[in-house]
Amino acid sequence: MSILNMNNPIGFFDSGVGGLTVLKEVKKTLPNEDFIYFGDTLHVPYGDKTKEELIDYSKNILKFLEKKGCKAVVMACNTTSSTIYEDIKDKYNFKLYPVVQSVAKILAGLDIERMGIFATKATIASGAYSKEILKFNSKMQVFGQYCPNWVRIVENNLSNNIESVSIIKSDLERMLSNAPQKIVLGCTHYPYLLPVLTKFVSKDLFIDPAEYLAQFVKDDLVKSGLTKNSNTPHFEEFYVSANPDKFKTGAKVFYEVDNVSEIIF
Ligand code: DGL
Repeated sequence: MSILNMNNPIGFFDSGVGGLTVLKEVKKTLPNEDFIYFGDTLHVPYGDKTKEELIDYSKNILKFLEKKGCKAVVMACNTTSSTIYEDIKDKYNFKLYPVVQSVAKILAGLDIERMGIFATKATIASGAYSKEILKFNSKMQVFGQYCPNWVRIVENNLSNNIESVSIIKSDLERMLSNAPQKIVLGCTHYPYLLPVLTKFVSKDLFIDPAEYLAQFVKDDLVKSGLTKNSNTPHFEEFYVSANPDKFKTGAKVFYEVDNVSEIIF
């Protein structure tokens, strides 16, 4: 079967449970599609890794998703989208959707002047959000801020612990000193922390790019004649590179994952 077959699955990958926030939105937008998710839990957090390491991990994951016959792969990870997408984008036959580049135009079109971005160290260091947004709106002021502990808090299910709440509050206060009109959750793990963030400020202040990304994926698949048209029952498969039980528990807040298989490359 050719890879670009409309009835083949859509792949997703991230360093862990974060990409499930994207899968959830894509599933709402394209409920009939089949999904294969890979969480690279052996190497989480990606935000502290070098470009070479991220290229290395992504190569194995993308080869795996290619073998699974994915017609498209959603890079449900801001860190890889920001740092390595340009290096790898032409190496695969499937459609590849990086989160940052896919949502930048919509973010740039919002009627605001001051936008905050919460993201990982690597995403902020790459400057990808500012670069991509400024391509469409040179007047937007973009304030990027790295949140060193947030991925660890999410992966270890520690968001309700007192120490975590105080870390999140102090990171939020630092961002608020820039007076942003909106704050983008520029790491797919961060929507897990909305219950904590919204103890201090209104939910309306935050943008989860997953919704925009899901619409972008849908529009592009429709335009390319690649949406599923068979009546076979919908399926979802989940794979991780370590700790499947921890993944299942961590995912619970956002997504009910039944079966997770461990794959070692
Ligand atoms: N969830 C990913 C992102 O959107 C990676 C976070 C990490 O592992 O540091 O950037």
